Amino acid sequence: MAKDSLTITDNRTGKTYELPVTHGTIRALDLRQIKVEDDDFGLMAYDPAFVNTASCKSRITFIDGERGILRYRGYPIEELAERSSFLETAYLLIHGELPTRSELEMFTHNITYHTMVHENIRKFIDGFRYDAHPMGILTSTVAALATYYPDAKNVSDPDSRRTQMYRVIAKMPTLAAYAYRHRRGLPAIQPDNDLSFTGNFLSMLFRMAEPRYTPNPAIERVLDVLFILHADHEQNCSANAMRSVGSSQVDPYSATAAACAALYGPLHGGANEAVVRMLNKIGHVRNIPEFIEDVKADRGRLMGFGHRVYKNYDPRAKVIKRLAYEVFDAVGKNPLIDIALELERIALQDDYFVERKLYPNVDFYSGIIYQAMGLPMDVFPVLFAIGRSAGWLAQWEEMLGDSEQRIARPRQIYLGAERREYVAISER
Ligand code: CMC
Repeated sequence: MAKDSLTITDNRTGKTYELPVTHGTIRALDLRQIKVEDDDFGLMAYDPAFVNTASCKSRITFIDGERGILRYRGYPIEELAERSSFLETAYLLIHGELPTRSELEMFTHNITYHTMVHENIRKFIDGFRYDAHPMGILTSTVAALATYYPDAKNVSDPDSRRTQMYRVIAKMPTLAAYAYRHRRGLPAIQPDNDLSFTGNFLSMLFRMAEPRYTPNPAIERVLDVLFILHADHEQNCSANAMRSVGSSQVDPYSATAAACAALYGPLHGGANEAVVRMLNKIGHVRNIPEFIEDVKADRGRLMGFGHRVYKNYDPRAKVIKRLAYEVFDAVGKNPLIDIALELERIALQDDYFVERKLYPNVDFYSGIIYQAMGLPMDVFPVLFAIGRSAGWLAQWEEMLGDSEQRIARPRQIYLGAERREYVAISER
């Protein structure tokens, strides 16, 4: 009869071991009993970049990369994008269930009434250079929030954790908007609590001299959906940073700053910015074949393509491609879409991309939409961070409540020098 176990024969010793298989996984620690000598350390698994290692058990987000499926708490991303709002999705991610009407009202109220940041934070932002990247400002100021809320250190107190979660989700748009306004030399706009989460963010970004900002409903809805699409993506680089840094039991602002820093890189949340730079550089559809040849010759990457998990079309990219036209209808077409569409068409027919299963990911079209909305490129990763903050907090909360989790501490294979004597500088 089939057994849920794995039998391993160590050819170095001839010994056989039986390891339990649970959820299609063996426990890495079970390998440690496999030794040549009694005082050996025991066998380890070597997995640079965690390509085949589950770091946690999670009930938040499900991805089937082969079939292009993404679900938050069991709900397909396409349905949430169609029918939910960002705050409802944030509630779902954190609490595990869709809220009732009154739960959503209370959650929305709590987020809305935490949108303001201490005036000193705004002054702190004034200290950045005029051309500071908004993501650098966001990362630093989220970390700085820890100094304003010393109670955030009580990570074992569920009530304190809940309050900090409201604060992070509420204040990220305010900090992001302040960062954007600083870059443009515009005065900071205070939150408007009569607007929706996303409408208020648009107001803080774009309000000029008018007494009250009225967001364009189409843009407000599309941006809200973009936040939903970015809200979580299981154990990606920044979620892993959030969990890893949070596992030291540091406050959530410091852990969120670490996650922001991870997100900033061009291979992660910085890819949306990199895509627009790439499309600008290509400049015209006639230059695409030459660009594709450069990518295939390893002289650059096709940004916005490829994914560690998706080996099929990223389901978020499908929704975003559709949203692009809703934005163009509202504010006019971004001409880069023609280059992007042609690039996608050619790449999806090319053996190089087909063999490696490289498809458009979430970032391929999002930058084009943000640009059409009038946002400069270096604000794009900041928008990703606003949406993803909900997922980071859900991952953090789950990690803290998981009795199997301890401080994150990977092992290494040491290949450096053996013990040697220190040599005085005069003798080297
Ligand atoms: N353009 C050209 N070749 C690529 C690309 C690309 N965008 N992505 C992967 N490849 C090639 C890569 O060169 C390698 O080829 P070979 O086997 O001949 O060496 C093969 O495909 C496998 O790539 P990999 O780098 O081993 O894959 P990975 O899982 O380590 O990297 C990735 C995933 C997303 C970092 C990578 O696909 C990439 O750099 N994409 C461009 C950046 C990007 O769009 N990032 C956003 C990711 S989605 C948003 C998010 O979740 O952050």
